[in-house]
Amino acid sequence: MSILYSEKQSFRGEMGGENMKNLINKVAVVTGGGSGIGKSTAIALANEGCDLALADINEEGMKETAEEIEKIGRKVSQHKINVADKLDMQRLVDEVIESHEHVHIVVNNAGITVSGDFIEQTMEDIEWILGINLWGVIYGCKLFIPYLQKEEESHIVNICSSSGIMPTPRLSTYTTSKFAVRGLSETLRIELAQFNIGVTTVHPGVIKTNIPHASRFKDMERQKQSIEMFEKRGHPPESVANKIIKAIKNNSHRILIGPEAYIIDILKRVFPVLSDKLIAMAYKKAMS
Ligand SMILES: NC(=O)c1ccc[n+]([C@@H]2O[C@H](COP(=O)([O-])OP(=O)(O)OC[C@H]3O[C@@H](n4cnc5c(N)ncnc54)[C@H](O)[C@@H]3O)[C@@H](O)[C@H]2O)c1
Repeated sequence: MSILYSEKQSFRGEMGGENMKNLINKVAVVTGGGSGIGKSTAIALANEGCDLALADINEEGMKETAEEIEKIGRKVSQHKINVADKLDMQRLVDEVIESHEHVHIVVNNAGITVSGDFIEQTMEDIEWILGINLWGVIYGCKLFIPYLQKEEESHIVNICSSSGIMPTPRLSTYTTSKFAVRGLSETLRIELAQFNIGVTTVHPGVIKTNIPHASRFKDMERQKQSIEMFEKRGHPPESVANKIIKAIKNNSHRILIGPEAYIIDILKRVFPVLSDKLIAMAYKKAMS
């Protein structure tokens, strides 16, 4: 496994910098911090001693996360923003600096899906998903990097997906956004090492969160099935959060979550054509 896939690869270390071993008193921004993976990651970061800036469109969810962080005894600010909106994201940066003065960790997590064949999706669906899943991550990187550069050590975590590794029928635009996030993240990791900024790409498999409820489905029966499948087979979001904490401390290149993510990764690398054929067969079966 270690030849195919190395979680411990320390690029920042290779460039002469140190890994961020101690998270105490660091300031972390988490987009989509009001639910699921973002909520668990924000709480895990607070447990490690970080102060938090939560960013979400969902004020109620954000408030719940903030209350848990306050109980841990860390400072937390809440920012109601749409990650797809450049001006909102600039306002987020300004508010975070005003409130916390520094930023050491940015977790670009907010995301949604549109489920349905590409020909069923409207232009508005496609713009919606790319706005949140891709532009949200681009803004989060581009606008925070100048502040991350000011710190001795800092880290970006971009939440991708196993759909950032393999083609995923009925999630074509989601897959497009996640392949792009992977490309951006892996490139930034190389470019930003000189500033001692680590970058980790996170590839979760199926995680039990609100995502199947929050996403757009072209077929309501499939949404019902998807919700049941996430309930039955989903891994807890805390398992993602724990791996993210380790990844920041080890400056991991990327992390996979769940056996399905490892299987997809190995299949795609070792048998790229066969793996696409297997996916095509599964798609045909599901559609018949
Ligand atoms: N759950 C999974 O199985 C899974 C698998 C792979 C990748 N992911 C990725 O994990 C990330 C988090 O998803 P989750 O599963 O925790 O979902 P979730 O629905 O539980 O949480 C997503 C959060 O993002 C927020 N959000 C949505 N649109 C926003 C916007 N425009 N601006 C600001 N905030 C917004 C929501 O309000 C919510 O709080 C996403 O990027 C998703 O693609 C999830």
